[in-house]
Amino acid sequence: MLKLNEIHLGDCLEGLARIPSESVDAIISSPPYNIGKSYESRRELNEYLAMQREVLRECHRVLKSTGSIFWQVGVYADRGMHIPLDVKFFPILEDLGMIPRNRIVWVRPHGLHAKNKFSARHETILWFTKGEEYNFFLDEIRVPQKYQNKKSWRGANKGELTCNPLGKNPGDIWLFQNVKHNHEEQTVHPAQFPEDMVARMLLSTTKPGDTVLDPYMGVGTVAVVARDHGRNFLGAELDPSYHAIALQRISGEPDSEGVFPNLKTLRDYTARTGDPVEKFRFQVQVGKKPTERSKSRMFDEAHHLNELHTRLESEETAFGQRVRGESDGPHKLPSQQKHQLATGDDTEPLGLF
Ligand SMILES: C[S@@+](CC[C@H](N)C(=O)[O-])C[C@H]1O[C@@H](n2cnc3c(N)ncnc32)[C@H](O)[C@@H]1O
Repeated sequence: MLKLNEIHLGDCLEGLARIPSESVDAIISSPPYNIGKSYESRRELNEYLAMQREVLRECHRVLKSTGSIFWQVGVYADRGMHIPLDVKFFPILEDLGMIPRNRIVWVRPHGLHAKNKFSARHETILWFTKGEEYNFFLDEIRVPQKYQNKKSWRGANKGELTCNPLGKNPGDIWLFQNVKHNHEEQTVHPAQFPEDMVARMLLSTTKPGDTVLDPYMGVGTVAVVARDHGRNFLGAELDPSYHAIALQRISGEPDSEGVFPNLKTLRDYTARTGDPVEKFRFQVQVGKKPTERSKSRMFDEAHHLNELHTRLESEETAFGQRVRGESDGPHKLPSQQKHQLATGDDTEPLGLF
């Protein structure tokens, strides 16, 4: 039997076999996409899906009747074909008798630039519940309203707030920055979940003390978020080096040489202990030396979202001007300018997962 807060080192089907039926409140995971990343062997699509069907059958078994599955996937790309994997996973989950609740689009502003089709700029998260009765704690995950303090100026509700002061439903289009480059959570893993994104799934469907499972735990993001929010975790990871990083992230301690798996773990440690950041290093050293959070030049999620909105708005305006013939002289959208410079491989999906 897998103990609570343990990550099985080995295949997820072995790990799942060690979990009792109906014992898990939520499953949050991103399986290998079968695109030939360092941690996966590429298989024929049907063979891959048959294997995933087995894993999901086991996930369904261990889930409580009120439980949820969030299955995050991208695309399967082969010889110029582009197959969104959620389309393939949807019937697998339905065949298990599960009930679809949302198909969430995770917008990915960066990635390879395609030559023969539109560049892929989103992935998806399928949210299914095991039964009709399920948890959804909306107040835990509300986001600020656009006009948070706007009040009615006439009618029966004059002077009252026009919208919920707790914030609004975040919707099903998510803009979390993927964990790359200057992201403080970046470890050596090529396909990590952003912690905030996991928190949204976890907080909306579980309570403190509940248990969350990730059968493809990678470097332990789901476990770290579960720890931070008072939930238990269970999981499996095949690769011993990722498994070791997950354990170190969960412990929050440096190794014997003062090295952390990522900058975030380092900064959390120094904030907790008062030790100076200069004493330590992290595996994916982004700057020359780690800075205090307050002096950091790394940007938080809000900054990246603003940046994305600004870029999309300016592209829309430029596009509108071009369509209306308002621009003077040849004019290129920012994305087209980049496209000219890029030499992306069209057979790759995003180059992110
Ligand atoms: C997309 S990554 C998940 C990353 C994770 N969400 C995180 O934030 O670190 C998929 C992970 O599944 C692992 N994996 C692949 N096949 C596996 C298997 N059969 N059993 C367990 N883990 C496996 C890979 O080593 C990889 O770390």
